[in-house]
Amino acid sequence: MIRARIPARKNSANLKSYEKTCPYFSWEDIEKEFSWYGPDHSPDHSPDHSSNRMNIMTESIDRWAEDPDRCAHDALVFSKGGQVQTYSYQQMKIKSCQWAGLLTEYGFNAGDRLIVLLPPCPEIFFAMSACARIGVIFCPVFSSSSFYELEIRLESTSPRGILTLPDLVEKISYEFAGQISHIFLTQGPAPGLFPNEVVIAGMPEQMPPEFEPEMLSGDAPLYLIYTSGSTRPPKGVIHTHQEMTGMLASARWVLDVKPNTVLWTDADPAWVTGTVYGAFAPWLCGVTAFVQGDPFTAANWYWTLEKFKISVWYTTPKIIRDLMEAGDDLPSRYDLSALRHVTSVGAPLIPELLYWVGDHLRCYPHDTWWMTETGIICIANLACNDIKPGSIGKPLPGIKAAILDENGKHLPALSLGELALKCPWPGLTVGLWQDNDRFQRYFTDDGWFLTGDIALEDEEGYFYHQGRNDDLLKAGGDKVIGPFEIEQVLCVHPAVAEAAVISKGSEPGKGISYLKAFITLKKGYIQSTRLNYEIKTFLKGNLAPDIVIREIIFLDKLPKTRSGKLLRRVLRARELGIPGGESLNMQD
Ligand code: WT7
Repeated sequence: MIRARIPARKNSANLKSYEKTCPYFSWEDIEKEFSWYGPDHSPDHSPDHSSNRMNIMTESIDRWAEDPDRCAHDALVFSKGGQVQTYSYQQMKIKSCQWAGLLTEYGFNAGDRLIVLLPPCPEIFFAMSACARIGVIFCPVFSSSSFYELEIRLESTSPRGILTLPDLVEKISYEFAGQISHIFLTQGPAPGLFPNEVVIAGMPEQMPPEFEPEMLSGDAPLYLIYTSGSTRPPKGVIHTHQEMTGMLASARWVLDVKPNTVLWTDADPAWVTGTVYGAFAPWLCGVTAFVQGDPFTAANWYWTLEKFKISVWYTTPKIIRDLMEAGDDLPSRYDLSALRHVTSVGAPLIPELLYWVGDHLRCYPHDTWWMTETGIICIANLACNDIKPGSIGKPLPGIKAAILDENGKHLPALSLGELALKCPWPGLTVGLWQDNDRFQRYFTDDGWFLTGDIALEDEEGYFYHQGRNDDLLKAGGDKVIGPFEIEQVLCVHPAVAEAAVISKGSEPGKGISYLKAFITLKKGYIQSTRLNYEIKTFLKGNLAPDIVIREIIFLDKLPKTRSGKLLRRVLRARELGIPGGESLNMQD
């Protein structure tokens, strides 16, 4: 662990003091900000307010559209190929109502599913807000999904419709096309592969601009997202309208969203990060959500930060690494003065990346931790706390985290174990689509949610992520270590860009893991036997003597999910010649 600290920014942050807030915090204080809260709506004063009827659209888009001081404020700014489309809260509300009208015309009702298979575009957000308004379950799917990935999602969700583009229709299998009532296309011409294709361009605009949000129970599904697949098979995670409480609080504290914020969450809208912090969360706060439709290039990303005066940026270590590799001199050519808060998620924000951003963008990135199942950011480096490089931070007020052993017993500080969160909080998934058995396995008998992540907590309550529990490695004696620990040491070597460490099984007769490392090299370094030997020697000098890496292999690229998560299991499967080594759900 690194002793260095990056000092907190207490005065300017929304959350001024972590220590003073936590003991008195109650989720009810946040609920009070919503129109559904209160004795009028809750005659029995039930503590969880499950009897209250609500809709996230009332509290996000409509609330601001009906506010004379806020209605003209930008809700969505979308940029692609140099064209910028901007929608104020008032315009967003009209879009949402018209799209809801259209879906209703096609027979959609609360509880139906709409699969959205589109690259980033404004229509995703119109569809998302229309679904929420009716109570239709919004199911975003990456537009780059394979035929097989889409098939699993179509088969299990049995949607009433799918919203897509003519070029993507071919990904729909004949078998399932017949079971979907409508294949909506955002533009023409229709490819004519299936009889139920409908080009809807121009149709929503014919619908009335008003559509009252359906008042739903708090646990009514809002969206259904399949997990990114670093552990298989994919799970359909269900999230609900009442999570608005957690979305609002986390955006305010972790992303430090303020009334004039322009928030850029550069995740695909089909990843939960894009769904929640790219749309719902900024809308609940009444601020501007910016969406970039062009693919990543370093110049385009800096240009975006400058041109759209992004003030809060929620990104990933993968993007930060790509920016770093594009060169140290590039950021200084842009005016990044609007940028005041940077946050990161999805994979380890290693100290090298953290310092690089701090040095070159003059804003230290704040790592955040959560997962599709948790619905909202649960652990984070908050602006009001010092950053400890390498740590994912502390649990948000209202969230309790612990490290448990395999029997569910609490472990003391600095022990490696499974990260668990105390149930409930407004964000926690209410179920896995058609898989209750698997859903139940997330929970211990005494009400903890098991994340499947390995972590440790230090004496000050900071958490450190160490990998997934199926990536664990056995060292000498009873010692169990996370691969991340070794990977971090590898990355300290000047030639190493990225590293992944796996176990190839037990070493014969020794009860310890046979460890193998896969590395990519930084620009300017060439793969050679000599370098390989040098890195092995370096490891030996920097690891405990009972941790021995038997093999190091150079790769041009490590296998990762679309959201940039390292897929150690793919390396393991390839290594052992077992299924799972194929490039399913991967970037390339
Ligand atoms: C897994 C969840 C991540 C946004 C929500 C969607 C890993 C998440 C971090 C972090 C290291 C991280 C965990 C987690 N992860 N945040 N800050 N440092 N690892 O997430 O696609 O469901 O993935 O992402 O392993 O379990 P997801």
